[in-house]
Amino acid sequence: MKTNFLLLSIVFFCVIMVFLTQCRSGDSNVQQLTEKWEIVIPNQKIPEGLTSIRASDCGTCHKKHYEEWKLSTHALAWVDLQFQAELKKESSPFFCINCHIPLQNQQEFIVKGMIDGDIYQPVKVQNPKFDKELQKEGITCASCHVRDGAIIGPTGTSKAPHKTVKNPAHLSEELCTSCHNANAVVTPTLACTFETGDEWKAGPYFEEKNCISCHMEPINREIVDGNGERLSHFHFFGGSGIPKFDSVTTKILNGLAFYPSTLKETYFLTDEIIYSLKLKNEFAGHNVPTGDPERFFQVQFELKNKLGEIISTQTERIGEKWEWYPVAKKIADNNMLPNEERVFAFSYVPDEKGEHTLSVTVTKNRMDKKTAEYNKLGDNYPLFITIYEEEHVFQVQ
Ligand code: HEC
Ligand code: HEC
Ligand code: HEC
Ligand code: HEC
Ligand code: HEC
Repeated sequence: MKTNFLLLSIVFFCVIMVFLTQCRSGDSNVQQLTEKWEIVIPNQKIPEGLTSIRASDCGTCHKKHYEEWKLSTHALAWVDLQFQAELKKESSPFFCINCHIPLQNQQEFIVKGMIDGDIYQPVKVQNPKFDKELQKEGITCASCHVRDGAIIGPTGTSKAPHKTVKNPAHLSEELCTSCHNANAVVTPTLACTFETGDEWKAGPYFEEKNCISCHMEPINREIVDGNGERLSHFHFFGGSGIPKFDSVTTKILNGLAFYPSTLKETYFLTDEIIYSLKLKNEFAGHNVPTGDPERFFQVQFELKNKLGEIISTQTERIGEKWEWYPVAKKIADNNMLPNEERVFAFSYVPDEKGEHTLSVTVTKNRMDKKTAEYNKLGDNYPLFITIYEEEHVFQVQ
């Protein structure tokens, strides 16, 4: 009897406290969320015929889709070391997570609004449907396929054991650009600039090829063992190919084609040695690099003499340059447009005889070393991959 009374008073106390906190937040000026990126996809129900919406469970039947997706950057959008480092900074507002873990089910708190419209003062309540395992999956199957208690698919097949709704308009490039095209100055020092969608729309591939035709190539195969072949699409979401962890290899797509010039076998002292490498953005439907403004390509020339000493180097950079303080501002952008060509030339007049070696290297970089050190990403965070390498050996007489 006594314990019951105690329990009752605790419950009563809690109800009063909840009431009081709600009233308090009601007093201040709580403004509603209005911007697209502030709003998350609401908590989703498990579609009829399934027991969960986790990728690992979809994967028990859709084995190939699961194995492919697991290697994709999408699957790592939450666990990524850089993302986690950014999230801990005070300058990161609450909505940073909305494109990286886009379902409300993946988020611990429901954001009801912002006090005085301040992005650093969200009004949060605990999310009763929060699923920590689903959170780790980042941009998971359900982010793209689960809405209103059904699986959204391209055909609405009746062969599936789960409720399925046909909606090709949802599974279109609009889905991709809902996250891959955000252009906003949020605060003076915080700007989001992913313009991959706009770049594609302005370019030669618009209405020819879209995000899905290039990044989810079609293939005929069984999508569930024993169900017979049908039209399917690879789920690697291959991109830059710069891995997130040393142990994870993602599928690489290359936008650039390389056209090197030739060199003679022999030169004379005081001859000018001229070499050039032409790059063309032949395969990407948007700028290269695109998306994150910290991405860049580097073209490096290095000439060595017969002793192996470096006697000349030249470095070129393709990418954007930003200034973040006092106001976020793009100060330079030489990203390559679709089909754009650019020639990088190297020249040198030798003043010693003997064998010379010219090495040419092109790398794709996630960010520079300084930024990685600033974010304390450690030595195991891969910063670049090499996509072109050649060596020319010639004699100087
Ligand atoms: C118990 C097995 C099973 C599970 C679990 C399962 N599916 Fe399916 N699913 C199927 C079968 C069978 C089909 C139909 C196969 C066919 O069309 O050849 C299908 C079809 C689909 C389609 C295509 C629908 C269309 O319109 O053509 C999509 C998309 C899909 N599933 C996504 C998912 C997702 C996402 C999950 C996890 C949330 C999931 N499935 C879980 C068995 C399963
Ligand atoms: C819910 C938001 C969201 C949607 C929808 C989405 N993406 Fe992404 N995508 C991301 C985020 C965030 C990353 C980067 C994750 C990271 O780097 O940790 C990413 C990464 C990628 C990459 C890899 C970039 C690289 O260099 O590795 C490609 C390619 C890509 N997305 C293509 C697509 C395509 C194609 C679609 C449409 C079918 C799509 N995305 C839909 C948010 C999204
Ligand atoms: C004509 C084919 C094609 C089309 C259309 C296309 N892409 Fe790409 N995309 C590529 C290639 C190739 C790369 C690899 C570029 C590189 O790193 O060399 C790439 C790279 C990317 C990356 C990696 C970013 C980076 O800087 O490395 C993302 C993200 C991406 N694409 C998203 C999209 C989205 C979203 C769309 C639709 C609006 C789209 N792509 C349309 C071919 C295409
Ligand atoms: C970033 C969005 C995105 C994610 C994440 C995603 N898919 Fe898909 N999926 C699509 C799109 C878009 C299509 C339709 C392509 C088309 O028909 O043009 C598709 C098609 C499918 C199909 C129909 C057959 C096929 O291959 O075209 C199945 C089955 C499927 N997905 C299962 C999954 C499973 C399982 C996962 C998680 C392991 C997953 N998808 C993750 C976007 C996504
Ligand atoms: C509108 C959707 C969206 C929002 C909101 C968003 N991101 Fe992203 N984020 C992306 C996409 C898309 C990519 C992949 C860009 C690419 O590779 O082209 C990405 C990639 C990243 C990466 C990986 C960069 C790399 O070099 O691979 C980090 C870190 C990141 N975001 C941090 C943040 C932070 C911090 C915030 C909040 C200030 C945030 N994101 C808000 C869509 C978003």
